[in-house]
Amino acid sequence: MVARQSPFDLSKCARKNILQLQPYRCARDDYKDDGTNVLLDANENAYGPGLALNSEGALQVSTVNGASAGSSKPDIDFLGLNRYPDPHQIELKKLFCSLRNTHIHSQKDLTPENLFVGVGSDEAIDALLRCFCVPGKDKILTCPPTYGMYGVSAQVNDVDIVKVPLDVENGFQLQPDKIIETLSADDSIKMAYICSPGNPTANLIRKTDIQKVLEHPTWNGVVVVDEAYIDFAPEGSSLAEWVNDWPNLVVMQTLSKAFGLAGIRLGVAFTSPPIARLLNSLKAPYNISSPTSAVATAALSPKNMAVMKKYREQIIAQRERLLQELPKIPGVGRFLGGQESNFLLVELLDKPASEGGKPSNKIALGAYEAMAEKRGVVVRFRGKELGCEGCLRVTVGTEQEVTKFLQELRVVLDGLLRGVGVDV
Ligand SMILES: Cc1ncc(COP(=O)(O)O)c(C=O)c1O
Repeated sequence: MVARQSPFDLSKCARKNILQLQPYRCARDDYKDDGTNVLLDANENAYGPGLALNSEGALQVSTVNGASAGSSKPDIDFLGLNRYPDPHQIELKKLFCSLRNTHIHSQKDLTPENLFVGVGSDEAIDALLRCFCVPGKDKILTCPPTYGMYGVSAQVNDVDIVKVPLDVENGFQLQPDKIIETLSADDSIKMAYICSPGNPTANLIRKTDIQKVLEHPTWNGVVVVDEAYIDFAPEGSSLAEWVNDWPNLVVMQTLSKAFGLAGIRLGVAFTSPPIARLLNSLKAPYNISSPTSAVATAALSPKNMAVMKKYREQIIAQRERLLQELPKIPGVGRFLGGQESNFLLVELLDKPASEGGKPSNKIALGAYEAMAEKRGVVVRFRGKELGCEGCLRVTVGTEQEVTKFLQELRVVLDGLLRGVGVDV
């Protein structure tokens, strides 16, 4: 039989906005997590998962009944893996509520009706877009420099972005008056994504500025506050419980950062019960796997929270060390943004600061590449982001990783500033 020519034409069949997407690429595609590299590029928890593990990395056996939510040992039911997981995750949601019911920002209690749990907070970012934005018609507002997934998810959903930059002259704070003006002028903007602490800017956004946006007198839209890094900020900073005072506020969090559980993919959105109901209705029914749910539940138990808090203290100590030591390296400039995350945004200069050096993307990119390719230390070049000329974003690592990073940066920068390359 002669094969007929297929009429299938992918370029005419697939959605145009999807055809324009590039497959996700990250530094890990080039620089592997095989023990040879110091990975300070993805703002993970360098100290490990917030779980009580023994020296072989196995879970410590709990003295409490393994099935109870208060135990420290994940209750992964291997024999039950032939069954679909719980689509509602009420017990896990209750633990998140207990964690965030601080009564600092609201007297009202969060309950599971306030919650959506997803495959990382990336799922919440996308679910919100699908919930509120009509493809090809509605828009979202973002405040660059900010987290890239808001833009990627918007493109996937065929939603345009209106940008109101952070105030690059004033520590990357929000510009609420400009946001309000922009929202007033365009009622197709359905959501405003605010990252606090910001990525890559590491600063908390002032609560009063978020409130100004929430108090917009006419805008019918949703304010999304992304608190992925909130547990590195001072205690009581999370606005999660505030969602009971504002019907159009969403606060997203994740177990990927302070809790050290990026591998299980668990994110959460706190919001008003009517919005949570919509998000829970549109999600895939079994989005949270049983092993993920068991590990997340265990992570929120007191014994494992104690591990998370110990690692957090160590990260904050190393963050302090970087703040002290980095400026001593010739060619390192200012820290931009804030210090409320597990990473820092730091400028590299074309000459030492004492000789009037200016932020330089050439030096920053050269240093990034030389460190990653020749010295096994991977950070993130952020010089192309608004207001971030010459910047590297450096995740705070363990004590040994920070030592190596400081040593390698000193050598590489010395070579670059003397114009003799980096193989010196
Ligand atoms: C600001 C911000 N939000 C959300 C995420 C996504 O987190 P998750 O791992 O929960 O999808 C990240 C990850 O780097 C982030 O930096």
